[in-house]
Amino acid sequence: MFTLKVDNEIELQLFQIHHAEELFLLVDRNREHLRTWLPWVDNMSSPIQYHSIIPTWLRQFAENTGFNAGIRFKGALVGSIGFHQIDWHNSQTSMGYFLAKDVQGNGIMSKCVQALLYYAFYELGLNRVEIRCGQQNHKSRAIPERLGFTKEGIIRDGERLHYNFHNLIVYSMLRNEWVSRS
Ligand SMILES: CC(C)(COP(=O)(O)OP(=O)(O)OC[C@H]1O[C@@H](n2cnc3c(N)ncnc32)[C@H](O)[C@@H]1OP(=O)(O)O)[C@@H](O)C(=O)NCCC(=O)NCCS
Repeated sequence: MFTLKVDNEIELQLFQIHHAEELFLLVDRNREHLRTWLPWVDNMSSPIQYHSIIPTWLRQFAENTGFNAGIRFKGALVGSIGFHQIDWHNSQTSMGYFLAKDVQGNGIMSKCVQALLYYAFYELGLNRVEIRCGQQNHKSRAIPERLGFTKEGIIRDGERLHYNFHNLIVYSMLRNEWVSRS
């Protein structure tokens, strides 16, 4: 099963069925923090829901079309990161992520994104990785900006968030840019 050691304290681990309760509790404890930017949080009301979502994520991984992994910091589940879809024809993917409120500010997500860029470009051989962030989501935008992604533009009203639309900023990193930096 897929695990990826990011550093001595951080590890990515594919979600499996037995993580359903732990993942639900993480999201539930951080409901107010996460729902600000993640529209799906309000729909998650029971660990049972993860019993049907996790197999979908595992199938996606088995089919090599994306994945969703837990972020473990000193062994504790503190967040999630993954590739929404892998578009093999166009050799590209996009990343999504979240962290528990109380572990923000330690660089955990920047390190995880960096590790997944390595995975995308060197292990999977992809050409392009995209991250879309809410225009006002400054903490999220700081991650691709810190890692040298290119800001490509804005998708106006790109996402519905609690009955309102908001703008998304598109960031991307290309393989040749990443290689020339490493
Ligand atoms: C977006 C989110 C993951 C950002 O979390 P974060 O902790 O700010 O991001 P990082 O883990 O990369 O940490 C960066 C912070 O740690 C600091 N830091 C400490 N050590 C660091 C290191 N080695 N490397 C990078 N940053 C480091 C940075 O200075 C920065 O602090 P600042 O916010 O005070 O400037 C988090 O706010 C979140 O989950 N939000 C809700 C869900 C969400 O918005 N998801 C994204 C949807 S697009």
